[in-house]
Amino acid sequence: MSETFSIQSYRGEYRVHFTGDIAQVLATEVAPADLVVMDRVVHDLYPALSDVLSERTVMLMDATEEAKSFDQVAPLIQTMIDRNMGKGSRLIAIGGGVVQDLVSFTASIFKRGSDWVFVPTTLLAQCDSCIGSKTSINFRETKNQLGSFHAARAIYIDTRFLKTLPAIELRAGLGEMFHYYLVSGDEDYRWAAERVANALDHDDILHAFIHRSLKIKKAMIERDEFDAGPRNVFNYGHTFGHALEVATQYAVPHGIAVAIGMELANRVSVRMGLLDEAVRRDVHGALRHIWTADDCPPVETDAYWGAIRQDKKNIGNQINAILSRGIGDMFKTPLPDDEKTTGFINDYLRGQRWLEV
Ligand SMILES: NC(=O)c1ccc[n+]([C@@H]2O[C@H](COP(=O)([O-])OP(=O)(O)OC[C@H]3O[C@@H](n4cnc5c(N)ncnc54)[C@H](O)[C@@H]3O)[C@@H](O)[C@H]2O)c1
Ligand SMILES: [Zn+2]
Repeated sequence: MSETFSIQSYRGEYRVHFTGDIAQVLATEVAPADLVVMDRVVHDLYPALSDVLSERTVMLMDATEEAKSFDQVAPLIQTMIDRNMGKGSRLIAIGGGVVQDLVSFTASIFKRGSDWVFVPTTLLAQCDSCIGSKTSINFRETKNQLGSFHAARAIYIDTRFLKTLPAIELRAGLGEMFHYYLVSGDEDYRWAAERVANALDHDDILHAFIHRSLKIKKAMIERDEFDAGPRNVFNYGHTFGHALEVATQYAVPHGIAVAIGMELANRVSVRMGLLDEAVRRDVHGALRHIWTADDCPPVETDAYWGAIRQDKKNIGNQINAILSRGIGDMFKTPLPDDEKTTGFINDYLRGQRWLEV
C-alpha cells in the first residue's frame, strides 16, 4: 500500500503518500534539526513511534480547541528560536486537525513561512484537512478567525492510526467525506452511498473512501486554492453545521454537524422548491449512517442564529448558505431572513428532525 499523488500549490508541488509503515517513514523522514509536535493521545497509544523518534525533539500537545490558540503559538515559536531553526529544519505535525492547525499556522508566520510535514492520525485529517493549505487558530472566544494559506511540504497517511480512533470520530470523518461526494456528483455519491453501511468495518472500503475524497478536494483546490469562488460549494452543510457546533459548545463533532447541516440544507432546498423530495430522502438514507440519536444535545436556537449571523461568508446582514438543486448541483444563495424560514429551521433543530426520514 504505497500510493502517492501530487498537489499543485502556490508554494510549489507537494505530495500525499499512503504508507503502511509510518514508523519506517518517520525513521527516515525526520531529521535531527526538525521539531516534532505530537498529539499526546497518539504519543501514549503508539509507543513504537517514540522509540523511532527517541533521538529527535518532540513536543506533546493536547488536542483541544483551547490549545489551538495564540497562547500555544508563542512557546512553539520560542522553542524554534532556541533551537535556531531556519531553512533546512521543519516542523513535523503528528495528530489530527488541532495539531495540524497549530503547527501549520506557526509554520506560516515563522520567518515569513517555514516548512512543515504532516502525519494525520484522525479520519477527518486524513480524508480532508491534510490538503488544501488552510491554517487557523482560535482567538479568545472566536474560532478559526486567525489564519493563512500554507500547505505542508509532504503528507504521510497511515490508515492503521484509525484503529484506535473513537467511533464517533470515525462517523464524523464519514460526514465530512459525504459532503465531497455529494458536491462531486451522482457517480461519486452513488458509489459511496452503496458502501457507507460497511465503510467503517472494511479497511479496503475506508481506504478507498479517503483516497476518493482527497482526489475530489485536490481537483478543487488546484483550481481555487484561496477560496475565491468555486471552492465555496464545499461549504455545503458547513454554514448550518458550524452554527450547530457553536450552539452546542462543540459537543457535536465537526463532521457530524456537517452531515446534520447538509440534511438541513436539503430540507430548506426542498421547501424553496429547488430540490426534489425524492432526492432528499435518498440522501437521507446515506446520511443516517453518520449520526446517532445521542450525538447532539438540545440546541439553544438563539445561540444558533447568533453563530449563523457571524459566518465568514455573510456580507453585511445578508445570510448566505449553500443550497442544493440536486446531487452535484450546489450553489451559494441568500437565505430568506423571514419568520417562515427561521421557524422551519428552529423546528428542525428543536425536534431533531434529521433523525426522521
Ligand atoms: N485546516 C483545515 O483545513 C481544517 C479543516 C477541517 C477541520 N480543521 C480543524 O481540525 C480540528 C478537528 O480536527 P480532528 O477532527 O482531526 O480532531 P482532533 O485533532 O481534535 O482530534 C480528535 C480527538 O482524537 C484524538 N486522536 C487523534 N488521533 C487519534 C488516534 N489515532 N487514535 C485515538 N485518538 C486519536 C485526539 O487526541 C482528540 O482527542 C478543528 O479544530 C477544526 O477547526 C481544520
Ligand atoms: Zn469540514
